[in-house]
Amino acid sequence: MMETDLSALEASALRRIEGAQTPEELEAVRVEVLGRRGALAAISKNIGKLAPEERVRVGRLLNSAKEALEAAFERRKKEFEWQALEQRLQQEWLDLTLPAPGPRPGSLHPVTQIQMEIEDLFTSLGFAVLDGPEVETEYHNFDALNIPATHPARDAQDTFWLTDGNLLRTHTSPVQVRGMERFGPPLRMIAPGRVFRNEEVDASHEHTFYQLEGMMIDREVSVAHLIYFMKTLLAGIFKRDVTVRLRPGFFPFVEPGFELDIHCLICGGDGCPVCKQSGWVELLPCGLVHPNVLRMSGIDPEEWNGFAFGLGLTRLAMMRYGIDDIRYLQSGDLRVLRQF
Ligand code: FA5
Repeated sequence: MMETDLSALEASALRRIEGAQTPEELEAVRVEVLGRRGALAAISKNIGKLAPEERVRVGRLLNSAKEALEAAFERRKKEFEWQALEQRLQQEWLDLTLPAPGPRPGSLHPVTQIQMEIEDLFTSLGFAVLDGPEVETEYHNFDALNIPATHPARDAQDTFWLTDGNLLRTHTSPVQVRGMERFGPPLRMIAPGRVFRNEEVDASHEHTFYQLEGMMIDREVSVAHLIYFMKTLLAGIFKRDVTVRLRPGFFPFVEPGFELDIHCLICGGDGCPVCKQSGWVELLPCGLVHPNVLRMSGIDPEEWNGFAFGLGLTRLAMMRYGIDDIRYLQSGDLRVLRQF
């Protein structure tokens, strides 16, 4: 009786092992038949009740059924493993005969591109391109620009002070001073560079940004010259009509001083976070050089005068490329930079 049970069990278990469609199904069969509480274990428990010669024969049959089923189980398990591997290899297959994508050429940062264009424009007008240190003396950044220690204008530019009394320049204007000290009049210079301010970062303010300073000193420089150069500059950059407005601006180192704003090109003047809902973006403060500034750098204001401007280069890049948040520009995010 037990023998027929056993061979029927073996045959049906074999069919189920062979027919299992998933590793889970296979495992379920294994537990049911070969597990500690499985069908074979149940038969094995009853062997003790048989007569001794029966016991030996059924015991042998039981062992051979167990071996056969275990072997079938291992075989089927291997098949599933191979299938899984095969599937993974199919998915991860690489066509090594495809042409390689090749080296991806880099590109210049949008601020660098604009800076180079402005340098070309001004060198063609007879201006020199000067460089100055990012770590500046208090004298060059403030005093020589007619901003003494007690002057409230110092508060307008929140400064990163260094422990040795120097500072990270808050604008490119100290390069004017260095230019005047070094070359004297007449002078035509621009100075692009990185500047630093300890201020709250938002869509249009960075703590680290770029400016481009310009200065021209000659015998009879007037506001008309200033406006001519500013118009030439903007036409060169935007190559299209942009609406600008000139309003009085206060900077201790110019007199008169102006703020040249442009109509916000992000929102078209409707108002957005970049222009703080005003429709206008402060871009280009400028003015005629204050006589005190000339005097402090050893130039006689009776004989010479000039204009100066301090272009917000980073903001200009935003306007030109329609970038609606200044933080993208120094994020180092290649997805942003690869677009230029
Ligand atoms: C100055 O820094 C003066 N040195 C400019 C100047 C030079 C005036 C020569 C007269 C003669 P101001 O602080 O406004 O000015 O900054 C100049 C420009 O830099 C601004 O118009 C703006 O475009 C840009 N700018 C100022 N602060 C930031 C900032 N936090 N992030 C990005 N751009 C800024």
